[in-house]
Amino acid sequence: MTNNTGRKRDVAESFSGATDGYLEGNVLKQGADLEQLIDWCSDATCALDVATGAGHVAGSLADAGVSRVVASDLSPAMVQTATTEYCGLEGVAVDAERLPFPADQFDAVSCRFAAHHFPDPEAFLAEVERVLEPGGVFAFEDLCVPADPDLAAYVNRIERLRDSSHVETYSRAQWLDWLEATGLTVDTVYETSRELEVDAWLDRMAVPERDRQRIRSLLSDAPADLAEAFEFTYEGDGDRLASYRTGIVLLHATV
Ligand SMILES: C[S@@+](CC[C@H](N)C(=O)[O-])C[C@H]1O[C@@H](n2cnc3c(N)ncnc32)[C@H](O)[C@@H]1O
Repeated sequence: MTNNTGRKRDVAESFSGATDGYLEGNVLKQGADLEQLIDWCSDATCALDVATGAGHVAGSLADAGVSRVVASDLSPAMVQTATTEYCGLEGVAVDAERLPFPADQFDAVSCRFAAHHFPDPEAFLAEVERVLEPGGVFAFEDLCVPADPDLAAYVNRIERLRDSSHVETYSRAQWLDWLEATGLTVDTVYETSRELEVDAWLDRMAVPERDRQRIRSLLSDAPADLAEAFEFTYEGDGDRLASYRTGIVLLHATV
């Protein structure tokens, strides 16, 4: 068993125990970002949603009239949640980096807020390129970090403390390089941000008190450039971080 196989088993187990939070959490259930991804895929007839979680993208694609939607995730419990919550989905428990579908099978592939869990993002993109038919659409969204490698490492250190299944958040430039190398043509890119309330963000992963304190210390000691880039806001007497805006990249690419 490779390290990644063991790591992926742990990731699947950890998400299988968190289906309710992902089903009910408003951060994932709605938003202009979700609408944008659906809009990009709305002409599709056969779509694959990779790492579907509780199925918000897959369900919205089916609601938008895409006639066949496959909701896939590493965690069988997430697939079960998605297919129970949303009508008309096909569900399959699979690894994003090894999709068990023939080439040219789909005219749209979506993936939202999940690629920072994938150990080998280039393998994932190669699979997306393989299963999409010529002209097919890839609608992608994930967290993103500043281009500065030190700031990026700082953000990833905090994210890993909060969530052991976090592998790495990449910059927009890194995704664009990988997509180009994979042979996907990027037509549109948006770099945006989303406000996170720090306490709620820690609560969602049930972060134990010791790690909460370490994360809060890292946030307090964060480089000024990060505090500025992520628009830190403070409460109380001004030294307790209340919220920040995490970077997000959305992109539309075609084969
Ligand atoms: C934040 S949730 C996804 C949210 C969902 N896409 C949405 O928009 O509501 C991350 C998901 O990635 C899945 N995941 C993590 N690693 C994976 C992998 N290697 N292959 C497929 N799914 C994976 C987890 O099981 C989890 O359901």
